[in-house]
Parts: sequence; structure tokens; C-alpha cells
Amino acid sequence: MLSKAIKESLRGIETPFYLYDMGLLGRTLDTIRAEAERGDANGKSYKIHYAIKANNDERILKAVLERGFGIDCVSGNELRLIRRLGFPADGIVYAGVGKSDGEIELGVREGIRAFNCESRQELQVIDEIAGRLGMRARVALRINPDVDPQTHRHISTGQADSKFGISYREIEQVATELPTYKNLDFQGLHFHIGSQITDMRVFEFFCRRVNSLVGWFAERGFPVGYINMGGGLGVNYDAPDAEPMPDFGAYFDAFRRNLEVGDAEVHFELGRAMVAQCGELITRVLFNKINSAGNEVAIIDGSMSELIRPALYEAYHEIENLDTRAGDQRRPYIVAGTVCESSDVFASDRVLPELRRGDLVTLKSAGAYGQSMSSQYNMHSLPRIVYSDQIES
Ligand code: LLP
Repeated sequence: MLSKAIKESLRGIETPFYLYDMGLLGRTLDTIRAEAERGDANGKSYKIHYAIKANNDERILKAVLERGFGIDCVSGNELRLIRRLGFPADGIVYAGVGKSDGEIELGVREGIRAFNCESRQELQVIDEIAGRLGMRARVALRINPDVDPQTHRHISTGQADSKFGISYREIEQVATELPTYKNLDFQGLHFHIGSQITDMRVFEFFCRRVNSLVGWFAERGFPVGYINMGGGLGVNYDAPDAEPMPDFGAYFDAFRRNLEVGDAEVHFELGRAMVAQCGELITRVLFNKINSAGNEVAIIDGSMSELIRPALYEAYHEIENLDTRAGDQRRPYIVAGTVCESSDVFASDRVLPELRRGDLVTLKSAGAYGQSMSSQYNMHSLPRIVYSDQIES
């Protein structure tokens, strides 16, 4: 990880802050682009929409824009931001179970590539709003394919009991109603089954589900020209230094080998896999103490306000003391944040070399769902950002 190599340059910077490795980001994006350009079994390129919810930092977005990727957004503010930065409307797709009327109007006016619609009512409302504006809206149906992504339950989105997508119960009715909408242009189907998926067999199974759904729609007179497989590719949180980039080749191969959708355009919405390993949260040790149970507690100056994933999902992030000295003993620590919540703990039993007041400590793989999920709880300032290419070493 970058922080170790440049730790002397980081010493004077006020903690906590996110450090983004712009070199690794560029290499990751270039690799995805090359793999997506290889495309499907017939050589037709895959279209990538970066899921901006993973990280909406403007410099990261500019790197995404420079490579010609589109965006998957889920709110009016995300849409406004990417339009301001110059992302073409034709590369923007918009998902989300609860789009407000104002957000829908914005998307219609902007002429985005597709609203990925998650309910019958949403289709009706988009049709009404487009009609009122005298415009047309391109829509895809987000179908809940009932696939178990075998990941954390809080980041599973495509199972029968979830709030996402149009369910099998309503699919027939939606297909019947589709031709009655006067202002909608049906594009095809959208899916997103979950996040942090590392077993490629999940994607293989998912492809087979999608093949049969595409057949189902075609039989009813709805040719599917757009298929959006969502995001979900996981990263290696356990050993980020050994695997700074996920295996994009294996990921796209799973679709290349198993998706049978004729000459439909195939789209993806990767978030985490594009940015997670490029970011670290750099903190400092504030205090050491021992609790009544005899555990050693190290309080660092980061918290769930800056990085909520451990508190929210018990997510694992590698922790490294950048100031380890030769001969330091390794022992178990509770590494805790500053916020007044018992869940504000980054690790509850982590064996680490000694942590002393003032040591720089990095939380790795924090580029996705870190900064973008940060809050001002306890009136913290939003986290500072430091880009690797702005550091003088
Ligand atoms: N498309 C849709 C419709 C989504 O809802 C998501 C993520 C993505 C694409 C991108 O998924 P990715 O490639 O990043 O797995 N905050 C959680 C992750 C929530 C993911 C929400 N949806 C975390 O920190 O693990």
C-alpha cells in the first residue's frame, strides 16, 4: 500500500484523512477498460457505468470520465454532479427504489440512457412526468432475479424478500402494461444482485437466470436490446497488498461464457471493484488503555463518521501501524474510534505490533463506500482528502 512507501511525507498532514493512490486508480481503470473492450463472445464491447455511490470524489470522477466510462447514479444530486463534470447523458443510468418526482423530471429532461425502474408504479409515474414535459423517457426494468449472492445480508439486493426490483409476482402484470405507456421507450432489463461477491460461480448462475428472463420477455414480444448486469465484484479486503486489483479477466469471462443474449448491449455498473483498493484512511493513535476485561484498547483519531463500514457491517479492513519499530511485540488490540457509540470499533481482536500515542495507522481498502458514506456525526468535519500525486516525496 502506498502509505507505507510515503509515510514520511504524510507525517505533517493533519489526521484523519483519506489518501487516494491515483496511480493505482489509473491502472485499475485502464485494466477494466481493456477487459470491457474485449467484450462478449462476439467481440462486442461491454459498457461500463461506474457506480458513483461507491465514491463521488471529483478527481476520481474525472479519471473515470477520461476513460470514457458512463455512470450509474441513484439520486438527483449525483446526476447534477456528473452532468456538471461533463459526463454525457447517453452514458448515464439511474437506479434506486425511491426516485422522487423532481429527480425523475431531472432525468427525463437530461435524456439519460435509462431509468432502471424498480416498480410498476414507478413506470406509471415516469410515463406521466415525461408526458407532462412532452418528452420521452428510456426505461429498463430492474427485475429481482432471486439469486443468492452469498455475501453479507446488508449488501444482498437480489433475493425474493428484498425491497429491490420488480418481483416475479408482478412481472406478468408489468409486461401486460408496458405497451400502454405512451411516453416510455422500453430498452431492456436491469439487475443488481448484491455487492462484494468473490465467487465467480454466483455470476455464472446469475447469467443463466438472466438468459431465461430475456427469453421470457422476447416470447412476449419485448426484444431485449439492453441488459444491465449491475455491479457486485468484490475485492480482497484480507490481503489488499497481495491483490491490489480484482481479477477483472475472470469476472468478465464468467459473463462471456454464460450470458446468451444475442446481440443485446451488455452493461455493467461496477463500484467497489473500481475504487476500493485505491483508498486508505490514515489516522493517528490518540490513547492506549486497558478495559476491565483486560483488553488493550487503542483509540485512533478516525471513527465511524469517517469510515462506517466496520460499525455497519462488521466489515474487515486491514490495519497497519506505519510507525512500527524493530522488535515491537505483536499482541491483540481493540482498535476503536472516537465517536460515542459502542459500535465505533474498527477491530475487536486484532493482533498488531505495538500501537503508541502518535503512531500513524492506516485502514486499508477504504476507497469504496468510505468517503461517500461519511457523516458529520458528533459534529466531525467531513474527512480531508489527500491525493498521491499532490504529495511531495
Ligand atoms: N448498481 C446498483 C443498482 C447498486 O445498488 C450498487 C451498489 C452497484 C451497482 C455497485 O455495486 P458494487 O460494484 O460496488 O458492489 N455500502 C456497502 C455496499 C452497498 C452497495 C449498494 N449498491 C458496503 O460498504 O459494502
